[in-house]
Amino acid sequence: MIDIHTHILHNCDDGSDCLELSIEHITNMIDKGVTDIVLTPHYMNSYVQTDAKVIDKQFKKLSEATADLKINLYKGGEIFLNPGVEDKIDKELCIGDTSYILVETNMSEFTPDIYEILFQLVRRGLRPILAHPERYNYIMNEPDIAEDFLHRNVYLQVNAGSILGFYGHKIAKTAWYLINNGFAHFIASDNHCKIDEYILPAAIEAIRDNIDDYTAELLTKINPQKMLNNEKIKYFYLKKQLIERKGFFEKILRKI
Ligand SMILES: [Fe+2]
Repeated sequence: MIDIHTHILHNCDDGSDCLELSIEHITNMIDKGVTDIVLTPHYMNSYVQTDAKVIDKQFKKLSEATADLKINLYKGGEIFLNPGVEDKIDKELCIGDTSYILVETNMSEFTPDIYEILFQLVRRGLRPILAHPERYNYIMNEPDIAEDFLHRNVYLQVNAGSILGFYGHKIAKTAWYLINNGFAHFIASDNHCKIDEYILPAAIEAIRDNIDDYTAELLTKINPQKMLNNEKIKYFYLKKQLIERKGFFEKILRKI
C-alpha cells in the first residue's frame, strides 16, 4: 500500500519530533506492507508554520537515515489555502516530481476564496488533492459540496481515522458517504506519530468488509501509484445510474 499523507518528517510541524521516532514509524509501516510514503508537513497553516527550505533539509536527512530500508520516500507538503498562497507556492511543494499537491483549508467555515485559489492552482497546471474533506463542517452538513470539488478538478483524500470513527460519528458518516458515492480518490493515514498503531491497514480492512477488495486497492494502491507516476486520475469513476439501480458491487467502473 501507498500512504500519500503523513507528518512523519521530523521537526517540521506537529508530527514527528525526532529522527528516531520517524524511523520507528517508517519501520512499522514497512512491516505492515507500506511500499511508498509521501511526507507532507503543514505549510502556511496559521498554527503550524513550516519553511520549504526546512522541509527540503529534513527530507535529505531522513532519506539518508533510511537508505538501507525497503521504502520509497517522497517529499511534499500539506498546503493551507490562505488567500495569496497560490502566488507563493511552486513546484517544490508538489508531491515528488509530480503535479499533484496536497492542500487543506478552514475546517469550521466555508470561504468562497477556496474555489478561486484552487482555480488558480489548476490553471498553473497543478493537480490539487484536498485532504480530509469529511472533517470540514460544511461538507459534513452538505456532503454534496464534495462533488462540486470534483467538477473543479480537485481530488479528494479521506483519512483512515475518519473511516474508523476516530473523529466521531458525523465525520465517519461523511467519510463513508464520500467513498460510497465515488467522491474519494485516496485513503491515507495522516499519521502524526502520536499513536503507536498504524491505522491504514484497519481502514483497508473496513473498506474490504463494507464494500469490496477492489475499492480498497483503488484508494490505497492504484490511484496513489498513478499519482506518483504523474498520470491523470479520473475525477468521476462511478456511474450515478448504477449507484441508484444496483448494489455497490456493480457500481465500480472496472476500466479506469
Ligand atoms: Fe495532515
